[in-house]
Amino acid sequence: MAYGSPGDTAPLDASSDTAMALAAGIMSAEFSKEPQEYFRRMRAEAPVVKIGTMVVLARWDVINQAFRNPAVFSSNKDAVDLGNVRPLIPLQIDPPQHKNYRKLLDPLFAPRVMAELEADVAKLANELIDTFIANGSCDFNTDFAVPLPCTVFMRLLGLPSQDLALFLRFKDGIIRPGGHDASLDLDAQTRIRTEIAQEMYAYFEKILDQREIERRDDLLSKLLDAEINEDGDRVRLTRDQILDICFLLLIAGLDTVTDSLDCFYAYLAQHPEHREQIVADPAIIPSAIEELLRWESPVPGVARIAVADTELAGCPIHTGDKISVLVGAANTDETLFPDGYTVDLLRNPNPHVAFGGGVHRCLGSHLARLELRVAMREWHRRIPSYSLAPDTDLEYTPALRQIEYLPLVWS
Ligand code: HEM
Repeated sequence: MAYGSPGDTAPLDASSDTAMALAAGIMSAEFSKEPQEYFRRMRAEAPVVKIGTMVVLARWDVINQAFRNPAVFSSNKDAVDLGNVRPLIPLQIDPPQHKNYRKLLDPLFAPRVMAELEADVAKLANELIDTFIANGSCDFNTDFAVPLPCTVFMRLLGLPSQDLALFLRFKDGIIRPGGHDASLDLDAQTRIRTEIAQEMYAYFEKILDQREIERRDDLLSKLLDAEINEDGDRVRLTRDQILDICFLLLIAGLDTVTDSLDCFYAYLAQHPEHREQIVADPAIIPSAIEELLRWESPVPGVARIAVADTELAGCPIHTGDKISVLVGAANTDETLFPDGYTVDLLRNPNPHVAFGGGVHRCLGSHLARLELRVAMREWHRRIPSYSLAPDTDLEYTPALRQIEYLPLVWS
């Protein structure tokens, strides 16, 4: 059923079919390729759609209500199954306990701390560019967008660089268990996720055992020494808590930056006027990043589960209903961005919610922004003019918007 009529009191029967079809399509490759048009149509047809126990939110005001009310719209372990045996920390922890974890983690990902990585990220970006610049072409995804954030992340945690391939297998196995096999059923996906999750736990256990014996200047050592407030007492994190943080960081911190880089470069390769604007004035890169995050919304939606009965825009929501919160729809909502369908690299202010909203807003946004800024600066300094290889038809993965083959050419 579709909801969100003027006055938000009754179901929108007239447009139900179209609205339901649109809502049902949000996990498709077609949606992922051009979500902005979907969002426009979904807001027009019905900003709240209920299909069985799934509710899809596509308008800024209802999305904001969900973000502001974690006591009803929870991101607990039942919201999404990633093969983990305990709740991921801090995403699957509800307030008030959630705050204790953020107090511990926020300083470790603070802008000042992340800024210390800048020289290293720039060096890495340039080393990657060195490997293909003379060819006049690359597969941007494989050659740049995947290795950059993954290597940065492994160095941050203090993991051996020779484990990169293993790490990528973990990440991809959890996020896209079917790989290119769209027909893989849910049970099979769960089986793959569960197996990989077990491997991941074992991997981090082994490294943490080593760090117990000998601390290093890395995030894992910091987590081993970190203290958290529990019932008024300061206590060390347990081994399980550290594992549950590492699991989430691996899922949340790698793919998202790869997706963003892919989406940004695919856009810029096809919009030379915007690419030239960045090349002419690299000082606009920070605001260009915010605008591309808004427009592309590489993470188009996040998951919630209702833990109490409620209603949104006239739509009854029952305990146990799964909610898809389409942040990308908020990012193009005319009430928040009156000219939201114009890409303006100088947009200011830019109150996008590409990093989410409410208490679970992204922990790694400062790291992500640093990586994106340095990548954009170094790349455009060395490869200012590039385009898609001729006859390329881009395919975006469903859910997190990655372009697994993104051939770019330059002269
Ligand atoms: C451009 C890249 C990124 C995007 C678009 C992004 C997006 C998001 C979004 C939308 C959420 C909210 C999830 C929800 O409410 O259910 C989130 C949460 C989170 N992100 Fe990111 N993220 C990015 C990069 C990163 C990085 C690099 C890290 C880690 C190093 C990270 C770690 C996290 C964590 C731990 C949470 C959960 C926070 C909490 O529950 O309090 N993210 N991110």
